[in-house]
Amino acid sequence: MTKEKIKVVLDGKERELPVIESTIGNPSIDIRKLGKYNYFTYDPGFTSTSACTSKITYVDGNKGELLYRGYPIEQLAEKCDYLDVSYLLMHGELPDQAQKTVYLKSIASHSLLHDQLNNIFGGFRRDAHPMAVMVGVVGSMSAFYFDNMDINDPNHRQISAQRLIAKIPTIAAWSYTYNLGLPFVYPKNEYDFGTNFLHMLFSRPYKDYEPNPIISKAFEKILILHADHEQNASTSTVRLVGSTGANPYACIAAGIASLWGPAHGGANEATLRMLTEIKDESRIKQYINRAKDKDDEFRLMGFGHRVYRNQDPRAIIMKETCHEVLDELGLNDDPIFKLAMKLEKIALEDEYFIEKKLYPNVDFYSGIVMRAIGIPFSMFTAVFALARTAGWVAHWNEMMMSDESKIGRPRQVYKGKTKRDIK
Ligand code: SDX
Repeated sequence: MTKEKIKVVLDGKERELPVIESTIGNPSIDIRKLGKYNYFTYDPGFTSTSACTSKITYVDGNKGELLYRGYPIEQLAEKCDYLDVSYLLMHGELPDQAQKTVYLKSIASHSLLHDQLNNIFGGFRRDAHPMAVMVGVVGSMSAFYFDNMDINDPNHRQISAQRLIAKIPTIAAWSYTYNLGLPFVYPKNEYDFGTNFLHMLFSRPYKDYEPNPIISKAFEKILILHADHEQNASTSTVRLVGSTGANPYACIAAGIASLWGPAHGGANEATLRMLTEIKDESRIKQYINRAKDKDDEFRLMGFGHRVYRNQDPRAIIMKETCHEVLDELGLNDDPIFKLAMKLEKIALEDEYFIEKKLYPNVDFYSGIVMRAIGIPFSMFTAVFALARTAGWVAHWNEMMMSDESKIGRPRQVYKGKTKRDIK
């Protein structure tokens, strides 16, 4: 049983600070009164700071456990599809048959884009990175879908959330086909969510993409594993932008921009580029040594995590999925996959990684699966973004419903000049 409050001595005076209980995991010290005692706390990167209360996702870094609304990620990846999970994240329960039918119908009806949105793609260079296109096109959605944008109306929030979940796969797929100079492929709503995306990515006017049930199931798993992860950098970005009252499309565009960084969602693309650069098992050691060298900027992409001090449960599932997909496609001897497994083995036996508790994260194997499916490196983070949209809109909605939410405005430790006059 944790304490209900703690005592601190500030400037010789004993002060009491309440402790906020959690259902599972660390309690938090409520420091909101500290400003009154003329103190702030200092925590760059928010390593030990709870920015909000949430009921959506729980990550236990020590156990290597991930729960969406209390359900273990292993069970969701095995027994559900992505739309079940997106419904669960938003509404708190898995949909029953009737709810799923209504939800599916709504997502299908929102999967197309306003025809004038297509023109925005044309404003980009053909070689623009798909993430740059996604940030721009998603941000411009508020110029087209302002009919349901009263952020204080729960129904409007639900429509905006479903529009984003339904349209972002189309935007992501079109950002790639635009890159190739190919015509946009429209969604076919008889396909499940993941297969529909692969159809829009790979179908051509002369040949339709042929769905493969093993690949479709693997891709749905990738989407489920990436759907949410509590207060990660991009979700915190969505919450911070949302706290100003910005419209949902602006919030999600900001989340996409934040996810793009190689330290975050861009790590899947960076991992594949790193493996391609390492090329041969004989070169692994030199890259491991670079990762350990404090004076070298290089980090082992796909390794380490702010929260996990044990195996990332998603990486374990992703590695199994890797085997399934490579098996199905007859790519078991894929040199990149073999290199990745060898790199993982060497790193996990290295004192530096053991001591710092650095394990492969979700991004270490996801790129190998996507590459095997035929998804180009430049689209890996776009896939992460379309999957994470479910988590982003759920957190945005939860924040908008919370009576605790305030505009996000951190303080600072000022280290600049004291007041002075211009001579
Ligand atoms: C995601 O937050 C989330 O939940 C994110 C995510 C999600 O689903 O939203 O899980 C998705 O972003 C996964 C992470 C993908 N990023 C990468 O794979 C990039 C490589 N990883 C590192 O950049 C790093 O591990 C981070 C960015 C992920 C975490 O950075 P932290 O929190 O600063 O790492 P840390 O404090 O745990 O590091 C402890 C030590 C440090 O050394 P010291 O200062 O103690 O000497 O380990 C070192 C770090 O320098 N370290 C690494 C390393 N990761 C951490 N050293 C070499 N290679 C690495 N990959």
